[in-house]
Amino acid sequence: MIAGVCKETEKNEKRVAITPEGVKALTGLGVDIQIEKGAGVDSSYTDASYTEAGAKIIENRDDILKSCDMLIAVQAPGDETIKKMKSGSVLVCFIWPLQNKEYVDLLKKQNITSMAMDTIPRISRAQSMDALSSMSNIAGYKAALMGANQLDRYLPMMMTAAGTIPPAKVLVLGAGVAGLQAIATAKRLGAVVEAFDVRPVVKEQVESLGAKFVEVPIEEEETESKGGYAKELSDKNKEKQREVIHEHVKKSDIVITTALIPGRPAPLLVTKAMVEDMSPGSVVVDIAAEQGGNCEVTKPGETSFHSGVAIVAPLNIPSTLAFHASKLYSKNILSLLTLLIDVGKPNFNFEDEIIANATVTHNGELISPFVKENMK
Ligand code: NAI
Repeated sequence: MIAGVCKETEKNEKRVAITPEGVKALTGLGVDIQIEKGAGVDSSYTDASYTEAGAKIIENRDDILKSCDMLIAVQAPGDETIKKMKSGSVLVCFIWPLQNKEYVDLLKKQNITSMAMDTIPRISRAQSMDALSSMSNIAGYKAALMGANQLDRYLPMMMTAAGTIPPAKVLVLGAGVAGLQAIATAKRLGAVVEAFDVRPVVKEQVESLGAKFVEVPIEEEETESKGGYAKELSDKNKEKQREVIHEHVKKSDIVITTALIPGRPAPLLVTKAMVEDMSPGSVVVDIAAEQGGNCEVTKPGETSFHSGVAIVAPLNIPSTLAFHASKLYSKNILSLLTLLIDVGKPNFNFEDEIIANATVTHNGELISPFVKENMK
């Protein structure tokens, strides 16, 4: 089996799907690897290091597409790439099938077996394949650094001969994987941190990181779905949440927002009025910007200013840490392929919950029970 890795084509995408370390491991599974020339350059992996690891460097991307049995990527490659792939070949990458239904139709039409890194179930056995967590972890870490970098104040308490500076106050909204890492990073930088999430189980995790959990007295409502994800709140509870959050936002130097609801736009947590109540010079880092943002005045992909408050809304944060993001993603891919590949060939055993949920299309059909259920 030949697996191909091409240079990512999305704007500002610096990651590469497989690192030289990943090439070595995949070769051990009986797979031959072709890498497009320069595919790893933006994430600091040289062609020479791929050759040394046992990959073949290919000058022309189309030659890889024509010959490979499996294309491994970070972001879903464009329609033109899919049309050049062999019928019956396999694509492994982020697909976001619920948001990209036409793309899924194209995969079916072209008879591509597609595996989405974003539909792998969040179960213990799949933890080593969980690219959503690896990338969210990076996003949370970077969000805290971006906030600190934008702020015109110290984060830690400083006792100097010129006077004492109190520690900065950081509020993290949404304490999933990214939010928890943002809390941990802001704590390490010396800030006083508080956090809020709609899922009550998060309280203990927030407190174990040394942050204070903001209690919102919401009315009895199921806030967590079967899969452990958040559900959208009722209008009444949204209003209550905003009242409490408003009081905390206005006292914060940095507000980091990370709240997401699968398959839905990001919930609005920080209104324009809340931003207007913040002190000039404070910062909102909205890492939910890709899904529209948690802050009313967010401009996705930009740093903008509203009544003296900076609104930092970066896109594709993991790509800013491309070396480690690629290393972790490559490990996630390798774990999935170790489960999938049997004696050098993929074995699509749909009895396996991980393989079944990750496989979006196969033989022109929609397979993933997770995707089928949520597409309804
Ligand atoms: P996510 O990226 O979908 O959402 C981020 C956070 O936003 C979540 O904690 C969510 O509860 C929160 N949120 C949504 N609406 C909100 C609102 N209105 N106000 C405040 N917060 C709001 O979540 P992520 O990080 O992908 O984690 C989702 C779940 O998966 C969690 O339960 C996590 O513990 C679980 N998980 C399980 C793993 C495993 O067992 N292998 C691995 C990683 C995560």
